[in-house]
Amino acid sequence: MPDTLVRPTVDMAPTDRTARDMAPTHSTATPARRPDRFDRDGHDQLIDVRDLQAALPGIHGLRSWAHEALAVAPGESAVDIGSGSGSEVLAFAEAVGPTGHAVGVEPDPNLLAAAERRAAEAASTAKFATGDAYGLPFGPESFDAALCERVLQHLTAPARAAAEIARVLRPGGRVVVMDSDWGTAIVHPGNRQVVHQVIETLVTNTTNPFSGRRLSGLLHRAGLVIDEVGSHALVQDAGFGAGALVARISAMAVARGAITEQQREDLLTDLERGAESGDIHLSVTMFAVLAHKPE
Ligand SMILES: C[S@@+](CC[C@H](N)C(=O)[O-])C[C@H]1O[C@@H](n2cnc3c(N)ncnc32)[C@H](O)[C@@H]1O
Repeated sequence: MPDTLVRPTVDMAPTDRTARDMAPTHSTATPARRPDRFDRDGHDQLIDVRDLQAALPGIHGLRSWAHEALAVAPGESAVDIGSGSGSEVLAFAEAVGPTGHAVGVEPDPNLLAAAERRAAEAASTAKFATGDAYGLPFGPESFDAALCERVLQHLTAPARAAAEIARVLRPGGRVVVMDSDWGTAIVHPGNRQVVHQVIETLVTNTTNPFSGRRLSGLLHRAGLVIDEVGSHALVQDAGFGAGALVARISAMAVARGAITEQQREDLLTDLERGAESGDIHLSVTMFAVLAHKPE
């Protein structure tokens, strides 16, 4: 698997509001572990940010690996679960050709509409269905290949999503699941205790923050056979400075009383100075698992 360095941009933060709405087992009993608490300016902007992210070389590299590992062939059927703005479904559509079937499942209506619009503009055969990882709108053994990228970290019940993936795969069908693991987040430079509290704030505000390390176990328990596990550190470009994420999360850390406003300012100053001198490192590691359904 490639190990290219990229800016983490949007995936350095939990972003999905829909996950909160769709997650059926989420309850007020677990208020700290929920998807997106951040306001966003609108879906179009979100789509733009995702496009930016998709254009980054590292994400391209990881996705190339996923497509190579899945090796979707003409005539096959492939599904992308939580397909966002649809780029990977378009790639699947090209791979399966006119005799195959490529579909994206997406609960967010704006993302779904954007993906459909793009497919139409590209004259792609990619199809999109409104749906949820907890209850995929397909019968059993419908697909030869499945992809699920950066979705499970937003789910309160990822095992149910894994069971759905196993259900819709044909015997011998392949899946790649990718996700970040926020326990691997690094923020440098800065006071270690303050940094710890900021990362802890990020972790407690992500529904399934350690998703990355759990992927293999999750798929194994769903009855799938693990074929390959890889990782990929998303390292923010040093020229990007402290970035918006640390500013936002550290403000949240102040709001929850984990750090003081002065500590936050000192951290942001340290990061800006680090950026100026080239001594800055902001990263999170993403994990990817290739698995298949036994014959
Ligand atoms: C970080 S985005 C990733 C999008 C896309 N997979 C990609 O890699 O560009 C998370 C996606 O998961 C979708 N999502 C959130 N909750 C979901 C659920 N319960 N079932 C299926 N998709 C969900 C969101 O709408 C969003 O498109």
